[in-house]
Amino acid sequence: MNFEEELKKKTGEVKKILAAYLPAPEGFQSKVLEAMEYAVSAGGKRLRPLLMAETAALFGEAGESLSCFMAAIEFIHTYSLIHDDLPALDNDDYRRGRKTTHVVYGEDIAVIAGDGLLNYAFETALRAFRKAVTLEDYERTECAMNILSRKAGVYGMIGGQCADLLAEKPEAEVTKETLLFIHRNKTAALIQAAMTIGAVLAGADEEAVRKLEKCAENIGVAFQIQDDILDVISSTDVLGKPVGSDEKNHKLTYVTMHGLEASKRQVEELSREAVAILQSFDRRNLFLEQLVEQLIYREK
Ligand code: IPE
Ligand code: IPE
Ligand code: MG
Ligand code: MG
Ligand code: MG
Repeated sequence: MNFEEELKKKTGEVKKILAAYLPAPEGFQSKVLEAMEYAVSAGGKRLRPLLMAETAALFGEAGESLSCFMAAIEFIHTYSLIHDDLPALDNDDYRRGRKTTHVVYGEDIAVIAGDGLLNYAFETALRAFRKAVTLEDYERTECAMNILSRKAGVYGMIGGQCADLLAEKPEAEVTKETLLFIHRNKTAALIQAAMTIGAVLAGADEEAVRKLEKCAENIGVAFQIQDDILDVISSTDVLGKPVGSDEKNHKLTYVTMHGLEASKRQVEELSREAVAILQSFDRRNLFLEQLVEQLIYREK
């Protein structure tokens, strides 16, 4: 099987896991459940659960709890997108090739659909404790829960979104350090969570987890720089979301600060460094290495 075929197969498996954990829209709360399903099922690259599973595979067997965390991280990522698109934030009408959740369901339902996904993500991750058999399984699950909550929160993604929103204000002074803080937190934090949770569940040691933190930080920062590049050079058709969103919101990005060419070089450099870290472990996962490498050239 070539890389593309394998990626398709693995993405399909993630889709099945998401569908299995997502609650059916029924009862008096069916509207919010419908909106949650609308946002999750729209597609998307499923990068975070894929990175989680592939990093786990680098270290061995992660057991049944892995799928709970794979679903949880995609639910958190999807909630962050629903809220990111709201008129009060980036005010965007398209996402994953469809109208955004607030356009279809209204802002009120979109806000609580985001809340619903965030909360349900933790309900889903907590199910992993039921699958724990040994004390070791239990401890790994606890460690994974800590990573997930920290990296999704104010010391991770939410912290990054806060700095990102403040940086749009006319009076804001955005330095290179601010921009790096934003990228590290709004985007890299969830990617770090994905990879380190995969590693922890598969029994990686502390030293390996530390190395992966750096690897995932590079992947995440590179991923956001590429997102900023595509916001300038791509099209809505290809991306499935609007282009020019950053300019509309007067957002200072890597591209506005360093230019297109330097930004592209930075994506490549950070990604190659990340791959080198992956290659430094005793075992190799060639699919994971290829996945990281192809992100350099991703068009959506
Ligand atoms: C979009 O993430 C938001 C960023 C952090 C740049 P993705 O590009 O992974 O979005 P989907 O999940 O594929 O839709
Ligand atoms: C958002 O960054 C990252 C999140 C935490 C959602 P962007 O605002 O650039 O993401 P897109 O371009 O809307 O996907
Ligand atoms: Mg944003
Ligand atoms: Mg946005
Ligand atoms: Mg963007």
